[in-house]
Amino acid sequence: MDYKSYIAQRLKIENVSEEDVQGMLEVPPTNDMGDYALPCFRLAKILRKSPVTIASELAASYPCDGIISEVAAVNGYLNFKVDRVGFAQSTVAEVLTAGEKYGSSDIGSGKTVCIDYSSINIAKPFHIGHLSTTVIGSALYKILQFSGYKVVGINHLGDYGTQFGKLIVAYKRWGDKEQIERGKLRELMRIYVKYHEEAEKHPELDDEARHYFKLIEDGDAEANELFRWFKDITLREVQKIYDRLNVKFDSYAGESFYNDKMQPIIDELKEKGLLKMSDGAAIVDLEEYGMPPCLILKKDGSSLYATRDMAAAVYRKKTYDFYKCLYVVAYQQDLHFKQFFKVLELMGKEWAKDLVHVSYGMVSMEDGAMSTRTGKVVFLEDVLDKCVEKARAVIEEKNVALENKDEIARQVGTGAVIFGALYNNKIKDIVFSFDKVLNFDGETCPYVQYTGARCNSVLKKGGDIGAYKVENLTEEEYALIALLGNFPSVVREAGEKYEPSFVTRYAVDLAKAYNKFYIANKIIGSEENVKNFRLALTKAVKITLENAFRLLGIEIPEKM
Ligand code: ARG
Repeated sequence: MDYKSYIAQRLKIENVSEEDVQGMLEVPPTNDMGDYALPCFRLAKILRKSPVTIASELAASYPCDGIISEVAAVNGYLNFKVDRVGFAQSTVAEVLTAGEKYGSSDIGSGKTVCIDYSSINIAKPFHIGHLSTTVIGSALYKILQFSGYKVVGINHLGDYGTQFGKLIVAYKRWGDKEQIERGKLRELMRIYVKYHEEAEKHPELDDEARHYFKLIEDGDAEANELFRWFKDITLREVQKIYDRLNVKFDSYAGESFYNDKMQPIIDELKEKGLLKMSDGAAIVDLEEYGMPPCLILKKDGSSLYATRDMAAAVYRKKTYDFYKCLYVVAYQQDLHFKQFFKVLELMGKEWAKDLVHVSYGMVSMEDGAMSTRTGKVVFLEDVLDKCVEKARAVIEEKNVALENKDEIARQVGTGAVIFGALYNNKIKDIVFSFDKVLNFDGETCPYVQYTGARCNSVLKKGGDIGAYKVENLTEEEYALIALLGNFPSVVREAGEKYEPSFVTRYAVDLAKAYNKFYIANKIIGSEENVKNFRLALTKAVKITLENAFRLLGIEIPEKM
């Protein structure tokens, strides 16, 4: 039962849509005035009446029933009281019946969303800077799919550019096939760094690199074989990380995929009179829109990042006919997206309005920044390994009797890394700290996982859950029920605002509410009817925590 939508459906307010009403409904911090409240201040402008009048008029006309049992106007608020007993009975039953599907909906049915995320660069390290795009993109994938959308996950690989010429030069001079097969990305990076050191002293290396890059473009067999090999090594490596993070893609069409798809766009830009020459380069002037020009072709006629992105957008529209196309990319590229979205709009693509840059903040480690060129880089793989290792040490310290310690450490350590990137509002910069993400007592992943495991152990001890009839509710029970009932709207809002942190925070709130309940309410050993209800409630919490975490790509251990 989604109470907000239930109330919104019944509250008819002129000139305000049901959805807007639903968005205005709040859950008051304490339940003494009511379980839901509509602040009428925001309606005052639209209805040209005072909030107090609006509240009392709405209170008089709202049709109370067995679900919303009482409505009252208090100081410009309209307060709704839910029939708690009926609510509890129906909510728990609904969660238990829906199981893994609880929280899902079909609001997206018939619509396709493309999500461009992770989008790593070939032969460059998969580092901590890629964590957010990877896990935010993947969570949005799961959230939107759970809401009924058809989702296409795209890894827009950075597999085009002069760096591949440089890499061939480096390989030919300082590389060794076997050593690279063994050292993989790190070895490729080592020779790439070496290239840059040497090129400072011997700038002629850059000419050689350009030559090799041209050979790749011209279809030279040897150059392309090397390029494919670099690509293979990279993809094999990152696949391991994707598996660990529960991340999947439907397409790996990267920048080079668009080599032969840009000409029609350039032609169209010309035809529409949008292309201008500036210092030998072809640009689209965006001064009128307060932006620097969008570079389409370099002096030498080669294409640019934006040109490829435009070709990719056109291709995606044609291939998937998307309802929205999301780009999960850090805020440093805000301008890039604004620019090419605008150019597509100027070309008359009415769907340009459906392109969305899902911008997010930076992740850095406690000890500072990184750069590929100098080789000071924090590999995501190392962060995962270290976090699992540290989780293992904490588990060792806390509970020596546990079986499967390695498996639990994997779930806790990996989950903590993912959670670390999904807990805050996505636009915030994050400083990653192992101690913080692995703290069992904070608003953290292990805390939620521990609560899930606690539910499991209660359910195991409690045995079969017999029939029950809810008769009255403690405050803790009701708080828990209210949260459970909210999960479907949390999922919907997370999908609409592209904000997985809503789900993460929800999971923490639910875990906190369960632990409060657990401390204050006896479960096993209570009178049969009460025991059965509390066990059913525990099961509903376990299901909902698992569903929330599944959307984030985090597992909950059986025992902890
Ligand atoms: N590979 C790019 C980078 O590392 C990100 C690509 C994002 N996606 C896109 N369609 N531009 O900066």
